[in-house]
Amino acid sequence: MTAIGVGLIGTGYMGKCHALAWTSVKAVFGDGPAVRLAHLSEVTPELAAQRAAEFGFARSGSDWRALIADPAVEVVSITTPNQFHAEMAVAALEAGKHVWCEKPMATSLADAERMAAAARASGRVAVLGYNYIQNPMVRQIGALLAGGRIGRVNHVRVEMDEDFMADASTAFGWKSDKGSGHGALDDFGVHPVSLLHTLLGPIARVFCHQAKPYAARPLAAGGMRAVETHDIAAILFELESGASGVMALNRSAWGRKGRIALQIFGDTGSILFDQERFNELQVFVADGPNETRGFTNILAAPVHAPYDRFIPAAGHSLGFNDLKVIECHELLARIAGSEARVIDFDTGLAIERTIEAMARSSRDERWVGVSP
Ligand SMILES: NC(=O)c1ccc[n+]([C@@H]2O[C@H](COP(=O)([O-])OP(=O)(O)OC[C@H]3O[C@@H](n4cnc5c(N)ncnc54)[C@H](O)[C@@H]3O)[C@@H](O)[C@H]2O)c1
Repeated sequence: MTAIGVGLIGTGYMGKCHALAWTSVKAVFGDGPAVRLAHLSEVTPELAAQRAAEFGFARSGSDWRALIADPAVEVVSITTPNQFHAEMAVAALEAGKHVWCEKPMATSLADAERMAAAARASGRVAVLGYNYIQNPMVRQIGALLAGGRIGRVNHVRVEMDEDFMADASTAFGWKSDKGSGHGALDDFGVHPVSLLHTLLGPIARVFCHQAKPYAARPLAAGGMRAVETHDIAAILFELESGASGVMALNRSAWGRKGRIALQIFGDTGSILFDQERFNELQVFVADGPNETRGFTNILAAPVHAPYDRFIPAAGHSLGFNDLKVIECHELLARIAGSEARVIDFDTGLAIERTIEAMARSSRDERWVGVSP
């Protein structure tokens, strides 16, 4: 099997994550092609050269179009800020490259539609960075639901909270600029929607309220600039299955670091999961004598594939970057034409339509259906 050539655009938080995934996917899983780190792009040639030396890429530069045109590149990782995703992904697909693009897909529904159309026309593989669906414990939740362990799901509650925007003195950055999208809805909301989509199916309709905890933020150069995005959103929703739901998003929630708390209620039991404790989940099943009923805590172990590919011992815990390695492996499986657990651009578009319905609901102050 010949090695696959990788191009990486952007080397910040997610860029490093992708680089680590590309570096370790073969060692962790053993199967699939060897990986060749071919070309890396950043905003300046100096930064690109520095990162290429650190990550082990053969070429570097500040022109992402040159990276896409490079014949040594077969798959492009796009880890730049949201507003660049559409232009870069469409160009890569049109050049015949596979694409692994960070979430959210785009900053407008029109751009997401353009990206999905480009993916379909190219016949190439295009997937999005929805790493949380790759967690072995999230797969276990799927297996429990499919096996009817908690019966018919009638209600779901999901909260996503972090505190990186909680400090009022944090400088105005691209996440407060409306060019990046709506705010918590696309920055955060897409993750819970990807989990719901994967575990319980699409959302049919939504009622959303958005809020800004701080009206303005300080500029690095001095003075203040009005915040254009919403750091908080609260959503009522109904799944296509008929189950009702509540979603709460807050990226200015002091003390919360990486919370995606999911509660799934069925007619014979409940499942609880929190990304801040993502190597465990709790299950309650309403059987047996009342006095011995209670939640069971299940710790991640080699029986929860693909945990076994990383560690042979139970209870030793995977980390965030491991989810990206699993996602990278699923992407390679899809490229090889095998079954794969990925959010491709068509499913990504369905997620974007759900987010757009939430934004419209917030603006119009009414229930909005998620149009296909
Ligand atoms: N999947 C996840 O859990 C997750 C987590 C965080 C961020 N993200 C997503 O990843 C993307 C990047 O976020 P981040 O936190 O890594 O941002 P970041 O600011 O840490 O990194 C972005 C990098 O892109 C570079 N860049 C900007 N324009 C460029 C260009 N034209 N050419 C080449 N490089 C360019 C910047 O210099 C920077 O190094 C966003 O879309 C974000 O929503 C996903």
